[in-house]
Amino acid sequence: MFTFHWSGKQLKTKWGTYEASVRRISDLKDVLLDPPEEEGDAYYMFRDVCRPEDREKFEAHAVRYDITVIPPGTIGKEYIKTFGHYHPEAGYGLSYPEIYEVLDGEALFLLQTRDASDFIAVRAGKGDVAVMLPNYGHVTVNTGTKPLIMANLVSSKFSSEYGAVREKHGFAWYYTTEGWVKNPHYDTHPEILETGPSPFPPDIYSFFVERPRFFEWLNRPWKVADWSPERMFLRTQH
Ligand SMILES: [Fe+2]
Repeated sequence: MFTFHWSGKQLKTKWGTYEASVRRISDLKDVLLDPPEEEGDAYYMFRDVCRPEDREKFEAHAVRYDITVIPPGTIGKEYIKTFGHYHPEAGYGLSYPEIYEVLDGEALFLLQTRDASDFIAVRAGKGDVAVMLPNYGHVTVNTGTKPLIMANLVSSKFSSEYGAVREKHGFAWYYTTEGWVKNPHYDTHPEILETGPSPFPPDIYSFFVERPRFFEWLNRPWKVADWSPERMFLRTQH
């Protein structure tokens, strides 16, 4: 893993400075429990971060490494979160999965199937890893008191789909300072499966650079025999 320094819209590394794609509070208005009047930055995305010497490896395996920073705080009573999206199908009825690592702070990863029959909430702290399963959309919430800095490895072959999340005004549940709140735009609300991080080695960047073929499942999810949440989140609670 490389070192970097984050400040606002910039991420500085030894080999250069990355400029953020910024999501503003107004960009999130369609998915918030209580869209506010005030404006400001909600969170920062730094896409396709990698050491120059690793570039070829990432491209050869069609994988991208991104860093996202969500400041702490609330919008209304809802903890600041990402917009949320689904991934398209990779093949054989499975959408592209993704893997996240918490570099600093506290995250609550929300996973929801398109028909909202299944809802998983993964609590993860510094060094923890969580896999966004095929056929689940995902939202990340900063539940801590400092910036949540997280990294992801994902296929570079697709664009995320935001429409379904926007239409339903977010996922079936909002996470607030008063706990879980039902999204009234859903007729029914799935049971929340609360779990801990996935049993993967930490530092996904170094792991990818050392063993890129291990991550073949990011582009070919059918290579994994069992994607059940029970298997992927074996280490429940921590
Ligand atoms: Fe994603």
